[in-house]
Amino acid sequence: MYEIVLTLHSWLRWIVLLLGILVIFGNYKGWKASLPYEGMNKKLNTYFMASLHTQLLLGLILYCGVSPMMHKIFSDFGASMHDKEMRFWSVEHIMGMVIGIAIAQIGSIKSKRQATDELKYKTAFIWFTVAFILILLMIPFGIWNVERPFFRM
Ligand code: HEM
Repeated sequence: MYEIVLTLHSWLRWIVLLLGILVIFGNYKGWKASLPYEGMNKKLNTYFMASLHTQLLLGLILYCGVSPMMHKIFSDFGASMHDKEMRFWSVEHIMGMVIGIAIAQIGSIKSKRQATDELKYKTAFIWFTVAFILILLMIPFGIWNVERPFFRM
């Protein structure tokens, strides 16, 4: 169970990142070219949000139940705060990702409520870009935080 959830969570990161790049460019183009808010750009925004919701669910399953590493952290939370890697997993990754997903969710709701198509694109572009940067920073790429495999087999 653990291996399956971790592997799915690991691979889904690439879908999140790909969709993130596509929605940032799509919404920017829609805004600047005054395109109608419909078709592929609108669908991609929905797919991006769906990928984030799935990642949140998988992350919560790992965090709250199936990850042996999290069990170890929770057995002595205070001590894990002194370890850089343990602190990343128990606080930084979760907080950063939940905030990032919340920002994308707020942006998605606000965008839909805008009066014009141009404003829908502009709102989605701004909020999704901020969410994307935060999510990117919190992925364990081993460059600015802890290292995990790029492609887990
Ligand atoms: C867009 C959001 C997220 C992305 C892109 C993401 C990405 C990742 C990646 C790439 C890993 C390393 C996987 C591996 O070792 O191969 C990981 C691990 C982990 N993530 Fe996330 N994550 C996200 C959201 C979350 C959330 C919201 C939570 C918790 C509520 C969470 C909890 C965890 C935990 C606990 C681990 C470590 C599991 C273990 O090693 O036992 N993640 N995440």
